[in-house]
Amino acid sequence: MRSRESINRRSFLAGTLGALSALAVPGMSFGKSVSPPVTPKIGPRSVEDPSFWEMIRAQFLLTDDRVYFNNGGLGPSPRRVIDRVYQATLELEEISETGHEKLERVREDAARFLGCDPEEIAFTRSTTEGMNYVARGLKLRPGDEVLMSTHEHPGGAMPWVALKSELGIRIRLFEPADTAEQNYDTIARNIGPKTRVVSISHMTCTTGTVFPVAQIAELCHEKGIVFVLDGAHPPGQMPLDLHETGADFYATSGHKWLLGPKGTGLLYVRKEMHEHWRPAFVGAYSADYDLDRLFYKPIRQAKTVEYGTRNIPLLLGLGEAMSFLNEIGLENVRKHNLALCNMLIEGLWDLPEVRILTPTEPASRGSIVTFKPLKFTMQETIDRMAERGFRLRPVGEHGLNAIRVSCHIYNTPEQVEALLLELRKLFAS
Ligand SMILES: Cc1ncc(COP(=O)(O)O)c(C=O)c1O
Repeated sequence: MRSRESINRRSFLAGTLGALSALAVPGMSFGKSVSPPVTPKIGPRSVEDPSFWEMIRAQFLLTDDRVYFNNGGLGPSPRRVIDRVYQATLELEEISETGHEKLERVREDAARFLGCDPEEIAFTRSTTEGMNYVARGLKLRPGDEVLMSTHEHPGGAMPWVALKSELGIRIRLFEPADTAEQNYDTIARNIGPKTRVVSISHMTCTTGTVFPVAQIAELCHEKGIVFVLDGAHPPGQMPLDLHETGADFYATSGHKWLLGPKGTGLLYVRKEMHEHWRPAFVGAYSADYDLDRLFYKPIRQAKTVEYGTRNIPLLLGLGEAMSFLNEIGLENVRKHNLALCNMLIEGLWDLPEVRILTPTEPASRGSIVTFKPLKFTMQETIDRMAERGFRLRPVGEHGLNAIRVSCHIYNTPEQVEALLLELRKLFAS
């Protein structure tokens, strides 16, 4: 799919670990500690200090006998996030209150983190839930067309495919390409007179391909098409400004790269969409309402989907996770992860028994590397590597039969080297 000649290896290496020494983290503090359990305090540090990333890793409960490379599936939470959930649970249980009023502060923090306004943010339980709120809230009609890639995750695609079967909307699929330019051209070519929605992953779950979303948004808006992004992956692994993406809707999970509690998510609804979007589910807090007068007026904010009782400690934990990432610095996170991915790609290039499926173009990739094993099947390779202690993710989608490696802040160069070594040994056997 991609030839190694298409990359300048020297510039590629420029992003490797050496680059980390240029980063600085002023005043980082892990100070939250409750009793029990206790989070160790880490004072101001700089990432030039080789022990910095070890300190980061030490914040996680991950065991050393297992090398976890599946953050794209599920992100572990650092100890202070778990502490925050625990502490908030204790506090709220002592008075038996929901704590709903604490949510607005987290919403403001989330909006700042994601580059949007608080009224554009809703708390959900996952990317999938957010995508359902979008698909069911747009009130499409039979014959309306939704354009998606063949690499969409079920959580991003199924809400639309269900509408095809229930309502008779049409779905058009396109094959992702290797470069931003090709992807833009492909999408432009596939937009037709019936296209009402373009719904794609910001970064695909299969090969980690990043689409040129700002340009695609411009194209969609010129044509009056709604642009929906399944953003399960980018938040937490790179700096992000949702206004700059141009998306009308952006759904993400708290429990992946944001390293938040499981069962948390965020949905962004661009202000201009608030009047046009009618979420399928409503309840207390989602509308101005009076049963006696049968009065019902939905709140024209993203949070209209936050009906009924929520689990506030989990969402406070999500806020804590964003603080943790802010203190490290999203640009530092991006560079750290990219350095590991670059190391991995460099090593995989030298293995004739694999084919790298992730785009080599820097603009089209992030903290995910996917390769196809050629000597053994995907499952054989996954199983043999699991025996050696590596948690990798099979990519069976769309017949790719590949293996996905996700690198996040708790992963180390030694782990990448160990993975390459074990792959070499496996292929030599
Ligand atoms: C691109 C993409 N979209 C959606 C999802 C579903 O996420 P969740 O289970 O948090 O809803 C995933 C999960 O891996 C994903 O990779």
